[in-house]
Amino acid sequence: MSTWANLGLQDSASPLMEQLIFFHDHALLILVMITVLVGYLMFMLFFNSYVNRFLLHGQLIEMIWTILPAVILLFIAFPSLRLLYLLDEINEPSVTLKSIGHQWYWSYEYSDFNNIEFDSYMIPTNELTTDGFRLLDVDNRIVLPMNSQIRILVTAADVIHSWTIPSLGVKVDGTPGRLNQTNFFINRPGLFYGQCSEICGANHSFMPIVIESVPTNYFIKWISNNLNS
Ligand code: CUA
Repeated sequence: MSTWANLGLQDSASPLMEQLIFFHDHALLILVMITVLVGYLMFMLFFNSYVNRFLLHGQLIEMIWTILPAVILLFIAFPSLRLLYLLDEINEPSVTLKSIGHQWYWSYEYSDFNNIEFDSYMIPTNELTTDGFRLLDVDNRIVLPMNSQIRILVTAADVIHSWTIPSLGVKVDGTPGRLNQTNFFINRPGLFYGQCSEICGANHSFMPIVIESVPTNYFIKWISNNLNS
């Protein structure tokens, strides 16, 4: 999760988020190089000694500063496309979770396991325990196994919501009448927090998402406990 003074991306907990961070750093590096070069050029204009005041054309420099930016853009475009298709790839998921956005809470269904279903509401500030995170913790967490491919199906019952977890690199809109799909792989245990990120109404800020990533045997135990009850 994000903590105080964290202005960058959150620590990644999935291979896809790792790739997204690599791409962000790559694009930022190119951006910095361009900014420094253009900044230097603009600064040097202040000290122009007018030695080239009879210069009317320069075919070579025109060629260079047309083609070079195009090539630089390709260096961003190709990794971007690679990532775009990588994010959409589904690799034989072992668990499927369906999440439905409502005004203003999420509900979940484990369709593989006798359709275990529950609602997940934010814990209001006045009911928060000392170890809880304000505006971020929920009453019923999603429990998912780590080190396995997980498919997420996202939809909504009323208006558009967005199921977003920054540390996993997941952001999918839940749209009424449509079923969107994505997948991820959590590579460590822990709690992963997310929030709705489509402006869905008055309590848009108060429908967080919490994933409890656990080892597979714990997940099986959790599933069988819920099947019995
Ligand atoms: Cu649901 Cu914003």
